[in-house]
Amino acid sequence: MIMAPPKIEAFASREALFDATASVLVAALNDAVAKRGHAGFAATGGTTPAPVYDRLATLTLPWDKVTVTLTDERFVPPSDASSNEGLVRRHLLVGAAAKAAFAPLYFDGADPEEAALKAQDGVAAALPFGVVLLGVGGDGHFASLFPGNPALEAGLDPKTARSVIAVPPGSPAPDLPRISLTFQALIQASLIVLLVTGQAKKALLEAPVDPGLPIAAILNQDRAPVRILWAE
Ligand code: 6PG
Repeated sequence: MIMAPPKIEAFASREALFDATASVLVAALNDAVAKRGHAGFAATGGTTPAPVYDRLATLTLPWDKVTVTLTDERFVPPSDASSNEGLVRRHLLVGAAAKAAFAPLYFDGADPEEAALKAQDGVAAALPFGVVLLGVGGDGHFASLFPGNPALEAGLDPKTARSVIAVPPGSPAPDLPRISLTFQALIQASLIVLLVTGQAKKALLEAPVDPGLPIAAILNQDRAPVRILWAE
């Protein structure tokens, strides 16, 4: 059933967007801890979320009851500038938030498939997520589930037993091997927040959403509520 996509919540500036996103995340995590005694948070990588994580790290949360993992990872060590683990460790797991547990997707010495299998136990400890923060690519990808990629079908399979998969490099993207949470893992969440900037990505998310875009799977599912937070 194709559902109307969630309405886009527009903010007057990126600063306002980042403030609002951090507030939504901390409320969802506090709610999950209150309900279940623990909260899992699946954090996106990319170039947008760092200011959100900087804000989130300063907010009041029983961080020792939170497990942070990633929606996806570039297959590089945390010390690499393009590492999402590195991004989260620099911007989120600092100060009081350093008390949170972290479930990595990258493991030294493992190949992508071995890493994906190894990551599943840590991700399982964070499921069901209190909240998932996703970015959206200009090609409609989310996490590391890219249009046309050989791993896309497995990644979007609602019946897969996998929560984490290896994603090979592809053309035009991704340029590096990736590790990605699967669609069925990501929707095991009390809330999915899409953090989006710019007109082009906003247009992707306005009805009618192209059903061929990976992000359409997130917008069309009815397991996890979705909020789209956007600024220019
Ligand atoms: C990554 C992300 C990816 C990202 C989108 C949007 O590892 O790059 O997880 O899915 O969220 O590509 O990226 P920007 O925030 O850079 O636009």
